[in-house]
Amino acid sequence: MSADLSPIDKAKFAAARRAVDLIEDGMRVGMGTGSTAAWMVRCLGERVREEGLRLQGVPTSTRTADLARQVGIDVVSLDEAKWLDITIDGADEFDPELNLIKGGGGALLQEKIVATASDQMVVITDASKEVHHLGGFPLPVEVIPFGWQTSRALIEELLESMDVLGRQTTLRLNGSQPYVTDEGNYIVDLHLNRIGNARQLALVLNQVPGVVENGLFIDICDMVIIGGSDGKVEIRDINEGSVSNEKIEFADDDNIFADLD
Ligand code: A5P
Repeated sequence: MSADLSPIDKAKFAAARRAVDLIEDGMRVGMGTGSTAAWMVRCLGERVREEGLRLQGVPTSTRTADLARQVGIDVVSLDEAKWLDITIDGADEFDPELNLIKGGGGALLQEKIVATASDQMVVITDASKEVHHLGGFPLPVEVIPFGWQTSRALIEELLESMDVLGRQTTLRLNGSQPYVTDEGNYIVDLHLNRIGNARQLALVLNQVPGVVENGLFIDICDMVIIGGSDGKVEIRDINEGSVSNEKIEFADDDNIFADLD
């Protein structure tokens, strides 16, 4: 284990390392986006290189596609794979029902499509993402650029009748310009603080003209793997109703760390 890794990266790595044990030869795998998912892609690449594991990986962003190719994973599009055995991704928040907020990294649209097209979605995370109620993390909403200010105004009007604690909205920026997603859209972040009825909000947001998708993942996630900086992992399976604990051993000479910048 690289001595330079922060405790949070060790926790993310532990979750990622445990998650890739779920991958079997020949699987079609959805690969998420973000710093935790990047650990998973590196761990998966290590299994491909060292064990000769055969898999098809469907990335959820150009960033993930680039990393996956770099580590030796066979990258295919969702339309080529059609249906996936499993998707492994990070999250910005998860609640006791394993409902999620995602999209902090701007890839929520592809992430939701890929996760929904999978037999199983596994979220890998550190303990800081666990919440009782979703909404502390700003909820990303992807909107098309045409008339985005109107879409934003309609979202704000809609929020007046929603069970939320905050109603401020902000256009996500990249420097002084709007942040643009892989699909060429903008993101409006909703600062709600607490979402009373996430299921309802997820449904009504997508009724607003110009909204493409929102970052609420309801009834999509099947399992959460929570990593700790000491290598301990907790595995929660919502379908089995089970919780188990394991320990990942960090190897000093792990090739995966040699690849780090
Ligand atoms: C990407 O759009 C997001 O959904 C990420 O999955 C989420 O932001 C988690 O990212 P980190 O693993 O970097 O915290």
